[in-house]
Amino acid sequence: MTDLNIPLAGVIGNPIAQSRSPQLFRHWLKTYDRAGFYIPIHVTEANLADVIRTLPKMGFVGCNVTAPHKVDVLEIADLATDRATLIGAANTLIFRKDGKIHADNTDGYGFIANLKQGAPGWAPSIGPAAVLGAGGAARAVIASLIDVGVQEIFLSNRTRPKAEALKSSFGTKITVVDWVQAGNMLEDAATVINTTSLGMTGKPEFRVPLDGLRRGTVVTDLVYSPLRTRLLIEAEAAGCVVVDGLGMLLHQAVPGFERWFGVRPEVDVDTRAAVLA
Ligand code: ATR
Repeated sequence: MTDLNIPLAGVIGNPIAQSRSPQLFRHWLKTYDRAGFYIPIHVTEANLADVIRTLPKMGFVGCNVTAPHKVDVLEIADLATDRATLIGAANTLIFRKDGKIHADNTDGYGFIANLKQGAPGWAPSIGPAAVLGAGGAARAVIASLIDVGVQEIFLSNRTRPKAEALKSSFGTKITVVDWVQAGNMLEDAATVINTTSLGMTGKPEFRVPLDGLRRGTVVTDLVYSPLRTRLLIEAEAAGCVVVDGLGMLLHQAVPGFERWFGVRPEVDVDTRAAVLA
């Protein structure tokens, strides 16, 4: 809290100018008529620990964390939630009144909330999920799928050992599929999730063959720039239910906003419009 008793929070990353979180938080502060500040903070790797230890002393109640600091902040925090420990990364730091820094990871929560909102019939029981990619985002997605009760996950990654490593940390529900066979696993999937950077503006195009996609399969892409990726366009044409990745970004911010500013915010069309403006 500041001396004026107004909550102060922000987002740390390197770079930070691209982050949409300040726009999002300011939209919610205005919508819910809350007094508060939420600012972007550029933090280099070398300064990370010092900055995190200093923010509470400056009156910050917490901060979000974006690339490349999500793994390192877990080491700096005094405590971590089970889900942050399992994922091995944190995107939310809570500066507690007792001086302790508490790390949480709400990416998986945001992923599931977005899926449920974008595909209202979606439930863990609808069948196997196919996950493309095995980086940090995939870790959060897989942890959340297992947490809500998905029984079977097919996982494919260009660098196969990274997929095998995820299988060893999450257990037997995962079947690793070779990257060249990734298109085949889509046939058996009720949910398909792209966690790779393929299709993102400035990155190589998404080229996994999509002929295996079935009508009614729920397809989501964590890439949200562009909002309508080739994967989503082709999946929609194949009769799939498509969910874009912007909602995950919005939903993962809900727990932090609620904790710091005292209202659980809605993610709706106005929220999307505010962030895309
Ligand atoms: P994030 O934390 O956002 O998941 P990351 O850890 O860098 O970012 O992971 C990026 C993912 O995109 C990885 O699964 C990566 O595959 P590799 O593990 O083989 O690197 C995947 N990816 C990036 N570029 C790719 C490409 N050209 N072809 C296939 N997969 C790619």
